Amino acid sequence: MKDIIPAPPPIVRNDAAAVQALFQQYVVPSYGRFDLVLSHGSGSYAYDVTGKRYLDLGGGIAVNSLGHAHPAITEALIEQSRKLLHVSNFYYHEPQGRLAQALVKLLGPGKCFFCNSGVEANEGLFKVARKFGHNEGRFEVITALQSFHGRTLAGIAATGQEKVKQGFEPMVAGFRQVPPNDLDAMRTAISPATAAILIEGIQGEGGVTPVSPDYLLGLRRLCDEEKLLLFMDGVQDGHFRTGRFQSFQRILESAESQTDFLPDGVSMAKSLGGGFPVGAFWLRAPYADLLGAGAHGTTFGGSPLACAVALKVLEVIQREGLAERARRVGEFLKAGLEQIAQKHPGIITQVRGLGLMLGLALAPNLANLPGDPAKTQAVRVANLLHTAGVLSIPAGAQILRLLPPLNLRQSEAEEGLKIIESVLASLAAR
Ligand SMILES: Cc1ncc(COP(=O)(O)O)c(C=O)c1O
Repeated sequence: MKDIIPAPPPIVRNDAAAVQALFQQYVVPSYGRFDLVLSHGSGSYAYDVTGKRYLDLGGGIAVNSLGHAHPAITEALIEQSRKLLHVSNFYYHEPQGRLAQALVKLLGPGKCFFCNSGVEANEGLFKVARKFGHNEGRFEVITALQSFHGRTLAGIAATGQEKVKQGFEPMVAGFRQVPPNDLDAMRTAISPATAAILIEGIQGEGGVTPVSPDYLLGLRRLCDEEKLLLFMDGVQDGHFRTGRFQSFQRILESAESQTDFLPDGVSMAKSLGGGFPVGAFWLRAPYADLLGAGAHGTTFGGSPLACAVALKVLEVIQREGLAERARRVGEFLKAGLEQIAQKHPGIITQVRGLGLMLGLALAPNLANLPGDPAKTQAVRVANLLHTAGVLSIPAGAQILRLLPPLNLRQSEAEEGLKIIESVLASLAAR
């Protein structure tokens, strides 16, 4: 292996100011970036170009399911790239068939379509909804307020946050939002044009808020009564992050009665490829053939390389019991964060989430928070955490998310808790 993998470029070539200047001149400024230039990573740690080490509790927004530079991913990339990188979807190949089989085994009888990102997976589900309702003139998809479903035109129309829509009107027709976790609101919103409902089990960008088991079961009943498709966006909260493959499986563990709940479609991406771009949607068996030949496609979707990596990620998660680890270490992390919140109620008002998808709600108007007041509190606290050596991900103005790799060690979680506590304690003491 050693002679195949090139050594990381010397840090001196990765001069922070020079890299940022390249971005300023040549990269569309559509992202608010932190003042950090990262160079390489290993396991749960990322390093900047000065060599400073960060405990990466952001996981590239729930993507790096096996952490950085996992040797099994490197090997899968090398091995598959020696055989076939890409062939187009005019042809069959084994990795795509095997990945579809593995996902069907995890979800239930049905079929999968492969794409490259989360929003593309949702777009596919929107097209399924339109095909499904087409003969009856039904096309509408109802989603939740505060939801996030991606940045394409249909993605922002589906998303329940005004800030992503502003400046891009008129919105694609056929999307409406209702308050999350409110079955009556959903029931009232259904119209003769409605074809499907799409929700996240745990809203990620919306601030790490899970839906209740009753809501999920109620939505399933409602969709059956009204002949609607029920779709779950599992892009951020899926792939064992909560301790089960999909968050709805974890949420329903606390349902009072045993349930055989299944949605009609699930979108996936992020952790599926562990950092390699892969997206997918699964459709429950009765709807699995709605998109016939020629109805949908994407050049790169389900390439041999993407599927080989996703299969390897799944294999490592299963072999190393990482779902159980995510649950256990997630509970440890959450308990530690709750203790910190109890010590500093003026700083943290709530800790939310399941497994390794956790959110810290910051108290409004933190008096002692340093940094540019034009920036949100979440960004300013994330900056303080950077200085102290931890990466985290803001969600909106007030929430910090932790979405670390599924193989985070308990000792690393402990290290993260110590750093987070020291940063928050310094805010309280200022
Ligand atoms: C729940 C959810 N759906 C969809 C998306 C869009 O995924 P992508 O950025 O891969 O298009 C995201 C991204 O954050 C997400 O969190």
